[in-house]
Amino acid sequence: MVVQNQLSSPSPWKFAAPGNLMVRPFLLKPQWMNGLSERLLVSHYVNNYGGALRRLNAIRARLAAPDWAGAPGFEINGLKREELIASGSVILHEIYFESLGGQGDNPPTGLEEPSAELAHALERDFGSVTAWRAEFVAMAKALAGGSGWAILAWSERLGRLINQWAADHAHNLPGATPILAIDMYEHAYHIDFGAKAAAYVDQVMANLNWERIGARYRLAIGGAKEDKFFLPYGAPAEEEARISAEELKAALEGDAARRPMLLDLCLPKDLKRRTDMLAGAKMHAPAALPRWVEELPPGQAVAVYCICGFQVSGKAVTELRRRGYDARALVGGITAWHAIGGATVPMDTSTYEEAQ
Ligand SMILES: [Fe+2]
Repeated sequence: MVVQNQLSSPSPWKFAAPGNLMVRPFLLKPQWMNGLSERLLVSHYVNNYGGALRRLNAIRARLAAPDWAGAPGFEINGLKREELIASGSVILHEIYFESLGGQGDNPPTGLEEPSAELAHALERDFGSVTAWRAEFVAMAKALAGGSGWAILAWSERLGRLINQWAADHAHNLPGATPILAIDMYEHAYHIDFGAKAAAYVDQVMANLNWERIGARYRLAIGGAKEDKFFLPYGAPAEEEARISAEELKAALEGDAARRPMLLDLCLPKDLKRRTDMLAGAKMHAPAALPRWVEELPPGQAVAVYCICGFQVSGKAVTELRRRGYDARALVGGITAWHAIGGATVPMDTSTYEEAQ
């Protein structure tokens, strides 16, 4: 999605840089995935996915003011090649992360199966879901010791789903639409599995969110986009109750008088998962809202964030808006903020209420 140009509206919320590709939030809950650690998933999301996104935006900025006639061919080749690789990396990482996760507030059970519609398509194209799975898993495991992606894609021209290998983030069957991807680069598993790539593949298969994969398949074959499957669980449904990491960064770098106040909400049990925060934020316990809300000046714009932007910030923003505040939840939480390279300071719990 491309951010709109700065608006003339006095709202503090709408002035992110034009042309920036915006980060997508985690839809999975990294702290309770089935055999994939939070450390692995967050490192992968922030450093590798976020790194590709930041690289892509830097390349796009360079390409926005080119000297096409004067630039040497090797420079143009280099930028266009890197643009393709970074774009592929961003999109495939998003498909990978969005293919994982439990239902609502529940962790993955490892027992979910494709929806009837997708199961029927897999049977049609591979003979059975079991046969599809055997080929897909074998293809992923064959990349052990190397790198690349194992992809399930819909090809309109071939009229079927295919399992395809991809290397360097840049291989795709022309015209095909990936609906599921497994990252087989070593950074995707080394923290948890060492060199045991096959064990990692089995674990990924036990964390698939078939509801979202099915929604992606329906979209690929011409169905309507079902946004409800791609919004973090517990995040406010109304767009005006949310703010992207990029918009918040722009707002904080803008006119001081228009900067939103920052609230960092964290459940007592999750404090141990935290080390840093946004500069100037006040940290509070969500359950103590009736007490800390008294400190908020009426009419003040408030940006609320938690670790990943699920129900902790979502519920608080809903309540603050009910009480008349112009509150917004940071999409993707501080994890998305890290992924765009946003600055932080060491966590300060001096304003945090005792555990309730
Ligand atoms: Fe990756």
